[in-house]
Amino acid sequence: MSDVVIIGGGIVGLACAYECAKAGASVTLLEYGKTGMQATNAAAGMLAPLVEAHEPGPMFDIGAQALAEFPALVAALESQAGFDIELQLDGILKVAFTNDQLHELRERRSRLASAGHQLELLDAAQCHEAEPRISDRIIGALYSPSEGSVSNQLLALALERAAILHGATIQQRAAVTGFRTSRERVTSVRTAEADVACDTVVIAAGARSGQIAAKLPHRPPKTEDRRPPLPVHPIRGQMIALGGMSTPIRSIVWGPDGYLVPRANGIVFAGATVEDVGFRRRTTQAGLQQMRSMANALVPQLAAAKHLFDWAGLRPATPDGLPMIGPVPEWPNVVAATGHYRNGVLLGPITGRLVADGIVHRDWSNVPADFSPSRFS
Ligand code: GLY
Repeated sequence: MSDVVIIGGGIVGLACAYECAKAGASVTLLEYGKTGMQATNAAAGMLAPLVEAHEPGPMFDIGAQALAEFPALVAALESQAGFDIELQLDGILKVAFTNDQLHELRERRSRLASAGHQLELLDAAQCHEAEPRISDRIIGALYSPSEGSVSNQLLALALERAAILHGATIQQRAAVTGFRTSRERVTSVRTAEADVACDTVVIAAGARSGQIAAKLPHRPPKTEDRRPPLPVHPIRGQMIALGGMSTPIRSIVWGPDGYLVPRANGIVFAGATVEDVGFRRRTTQAGLQQMRSMANALVPQLAAAKHLFDWAGLRPATPDGLPMIGPVPEWPNVVAATGHYRNGVLLGPITGRLVADGIVHRDWSNVPADFSPSRFS
């Protein structure tokens, strides 16, 4: 018997496991493959709420708060896990090639300034001073000095280690086959190996969350409406790792068609496509070519870089682009922690904390109402 059974071992599920176990709950996490190897592994690790946000709102607010919490979280996790998570807050340049794009960046800057966030607008000369190897065709940029990236893989590993240190049990290759229920409550989560009895279930299965939720019996029985209560769908992102060059850029460079993320080991990640192709998780020649062209357009010197490896992942998207955090309608002891779309690495840790507050301390008041899963029922 566990107080909390978490379905899904990506950043979000691992953060829920860590925070719930730290708050004193007994936790079992069930991962159908290997922890951290789905969308978490496919991410570039960007921490970019200011540059990603188009306008102030709940997504922007939670992102800014999540970013502010990262340094302390990383310090705590590094001391528990015993390794460096490669947090680099070296800034992000969101660049423009055309006057229209520059105009859009100016507007974005004034919208965010009205919410109290100052970003710098750089002219072409200042851009090149900041990043000498960017294209001469870049005419300006929005510069966000406090944003950056983290190693998504090491963050996931550290969360897992810290969760285990706090007593959580992590089961790999434990695919969920269904639920045992009694009235409106889930009493256990079923895998091929066992039934794991629980007080609360957290569905943190990324793009598969809707499929997992669809295994819950229909309530009321015989209903005609067979829609899963968690409408999450996969959006593929393809990425390339470029290498064999001496540190071509220092900060993240984000253009109209994609971004470049320099990692601590000198590799540059170039990503990502945004494709609605169902659960197809393979890379394609067209997608990789698109990313290679995008990278060369931003930093021409990258044309000579080696294509080290490539990969694709499935972002968990929701119909309104906002995550789902909180109890699932009709099922008071089932909690959703999913739908983070392009922001799983940034929002995973704060989601874990909010979920632990909700489950262990029965306080959901810090979760914005816009993120309630009940908005789709
Ligand atoms: N967060 C970046 C992406 O989804 O491509």
